[in-house]
Amino acid sequence: MIDTESLLYLCPLINPSLLAADFANLGRDIRRLEDAGAKILHLDVMDGHFVPNLSFGIPVVEAVRRSTELPLDVHLMIREPEKYLAPFRKAGADFLSVHIEVAPDPRALFDQIRKLGAIPGIVSNPPTPVEAVLPYINDCDLILTMSVMPGFGGQSFDLRVLEKLRQIRRAANEKMLISVDGGVGESTITETAVAGANVFVAGTALFGKPNINSQFQRLHHLAETTVVW
Ligand code: DX5
Ligand code: ZN
Repeated sequence: MIDTESLLYLCPLINPSLLAADFANLGRDIRRLEDAGAKILHLDVMDGHFVPNLSFGIPVVEAVRRSTELPLDVHLMIREPEKYLAPFRKAGADFLSVHIEVAPDPRALFDQIRKLGAIPGIVSNPPTPVEAVLPYINDCDLILTMSVMPGFGGQSFDLRVLEKLRQIRRAANEKMLISVDGGVGESTITETAVAGANVFVAGTALFGKPNINSQFQRLHHLAETTVVW
């Protein structure tokens, strides 16, 4: 199992969101991402309540786990996440991130996640003030800031994320994975890196292109030449 320290050493990380993959050829797409140099995979779990969409759940995480050894960053866009932490961990999740909007004080969830042997993360939506997450950022290892309203891939990047990233970067210790999710691509990745991100979730920007490998390299190069964290 991967630890945060080793991942920090590999930053900047392009974190491919499998939501945009071809689900009929998930194994093939994961292989392509590994060949491109991916060091982590992002899995978007949606419940149709917290977000107005459904994606996939425990059996798909388990199937992905069987097809790769890469760390799995499971983004839970669900209500009552406490009920599902153990099953997702059992299915193979390495990171389990919960939304501050459903867990205003997430510390008990972080403890539960660590006891399960996984790494906790906190996520906030674009309209949620950064002050809601700041008290907890040093209690978890991954701070994920949404740059779209969660629920769908392929939306446009919300510029409000940049100020949030700057404030999180200022308040966080240096051993923090600071991630941005939604609308991240060639035209937006550089500013998120300058603002403080070191982990870049990308769905459409990778899978929407004919050659995942060269697009991965392009995004990685943009992040690498900018990121100072
Ligand atoms: C949105 C998800 C994202 C999404 C990103 O609810 O959390 O991870 O897959 O997709 P793109 O990169 O297409 O905006
Ligand atoms: Zn996500």
